[in-house]
Amino acid sequence: MLDFQVQTTLDDGTPVLIRPLRPEDHDDILSGFQRLSPHTRYLRYSSVSAKLTPDDLNTLICQDETKCLALGAADLRRPGHYGMGVARYMRCDEEPNTAEIAIVVVDEYQGRGLGSLMLDLLITIARKNGFHTLSGYVLAENRAMIRMLKRVHAHFRSLDGGMIRIDIPLLESSQLKKVVGL
Ligand SMILES: CC(C)(COP(=O)(O)OP(=O)(O)OC[C@H]1O[C@@H](n2cnc3c(N)ncnc32)[C@H](O)[C@@H]1OP(=O)(O)O)[C@@H](O)C(=O)NCCC(=O)NCCS
Repeated sequence: MLDFQVQTTLDDGTPVLIRPLRPEDHDDILSGFQRLSPHTRYLRYSSVSAKLTPDDLNTLICQDETKCLALGAADLRRPGHYGMGVARYMRCDEEPNTAEIAIVVVDEYQGRGLGSLMLDLLITIARKNGFHTLSGYVLAENRAMIRMLKRVHAHFRSLDGGMIRIDIPLLESSQLKKVVGL
């Protein structure tokens, strides 16, 4: 079980703590999900009415980073360490060297560098765990996510229905924007 925490500040000075999610975070994950706007839910799940399923929750509190890992970010200035976002990878059954990624940042914290920070951490940890590629599916209109992925040299392939398949090769050296001590 991976046990670490990173304390840093976002671009605007917001102090943030990032660590792997644990089973006791169950209620905070649900309350963070409730705070996502319909637009953010649409960009993340391709549906404004998406709900977190028991399977989704189990993936987020998975305690084996060789299969899946979810990082949670909390605002250290808010009582109870208010949840700011989640980034996770999950090993693909059919391609064991590949993990699928997803990232969401609560609306009020978007655009402050948190998504990029969590993506860099996921890449570092996935590489250490032997993954060769992080992949995912992104809506073509998702400018913030696509910009973030270009920075880490993702490959893009357009699919039907306004979706893009992305692959981040982990064997190449990525020029990470931030060094966070992992
Ligand atoms: C995509 C997302 C995770 C990015 O997180 P974030 O904390 O807002 O991103 P950052 O602040 O690190 O910014 C990442 C890049 O996007 C740019 N950006 C941020 N918001 C943007 C916007 N609304 N439009 C265009 N670009 C934007 C930033 O300038 C930055 O680019 P740069 O590194 O070249 O300066 C976040 O916006 C989000 O949760 N969106 C909804 C869910 C989603 O789309 N998930 C991805 C699919 S799994």
